Amino acid sequence: MQQHIDAILRDLESDALDSPRAVEEYKNKYLGRKNGVVTHLFTRLKEASPEERRALGQRVNALKQAAEARLAEAEAALAGQAARTGAAGLDLTLPGRAPAPAGSLHPLSQTLEDIKGIFERLGFAVEEGPEIEDDWHNFSALNFPPDHPARDMQDTFFLEAPSAASEGVLLRTHTSPVQIRVMERQAPPVRVIVPGRVYRNEAISYKSFCLFHQVEGLYVDEGVTFADLKEIIHLFAAAVFGADVRMRFRPSFFPFTEPSAEVDIWGPNPALPEGGRWMEIMGCGMVDPNVLSAVGIDPERYTGYAFGMGVERITMLRYGIDDIRVLYENDVRFLEQF
Ligand code: PHE
Repeated sequence: MQQHIDAILRDLESDALDSPRAVEEYKNKYLGRKNGVVTHLFTRLKEASPEERRALGQRVNALKQAAEARLAEAEAALAGQAARTGAAGLDLTLPGRAPAPAGSLHPLSQTLEDIKGIFERLGFAVEEGPEIEDDWHNFSALNFPPDHPARDMQDTFFLEAPSAASEGVLLRTHTSPVQIRVMERQAPPVRVIVPGRVYRNEAISYKSFCLFHQVEGLYVDEGVTFADLKEIIHLFAAAVFGADVRMRFRPSFFPFTEPSAEVDIWGPNPALPEGGRWMEIMGCGMVDPNVLSAVGIDPERYTGYAFGMGVERITMLRYGIDDIRVLYENDVRFLEQF
């Protein structure tokens, strides 16, 4: 029996345990409840003399422990391998496929979000209006009489030309028609900004495109003055361009504001003889009494200011972009930089 035990020990140490199946078979062969070799030895201990039994018992026990230890080791090794290769035999340690590059917000969207955030903190609500407008909202209600030369300032895409049957349907040339839409349904106080896309029949160049974006602002209440307008515009410019921003109000004309002004921002540029130049970023002014009357608001009681800024202009100034067209080409090499 002694020799038999030694032979079993040799086998038990050398049998290969390299697959789940081999491990299963090994377990049955040595430790199986009915026919396991080691199990069987325990039953045979009875045959030994009482003197021998103790020593033999210890040896059989050692055999059992050796078999169990090998099994535990092999099971652990296989489990590790399974984790690496997965059930389907995939090698999960291989580097993965590169994820699709994460996109980012278009620079115009970033500027728009920032503008909205600034005015929301200043108490303005955000409104929207249709891009397809009628002549009344885009022009007449804004104090552009039919055939008035002021209409030439905004060369328009008509979807339906003005005629006896229709007063004209067009792509809005500015966000100002939403001033009218808001005041038609809401009594003062009105304090809104209106971001949106506008269209003009422009010759396309580095500085103009057939569509662009504006943010309109409108504040109508009792006692609103030009000083309020200047303050809000200055707060806005400082938030976008920094506290040391240089800006100026330049007298201008819009049919729907009186007085009217344009706001310029100083864009420093060492290459220019003056060290920079003034760049227009918006039109603004006090809401013309005729506009208030057109929507049934009493101009004797209420005053207001309005402004309309170009989102492209501000984006270009902010990021040093010198050609408006790159904003619409969707060239990833450009967009990746933001
Ligand atoms: N709507 C004008 C434009 O597009 C800008 C503007 C808005 C001017 C509001 C004054 C007040 O040119």
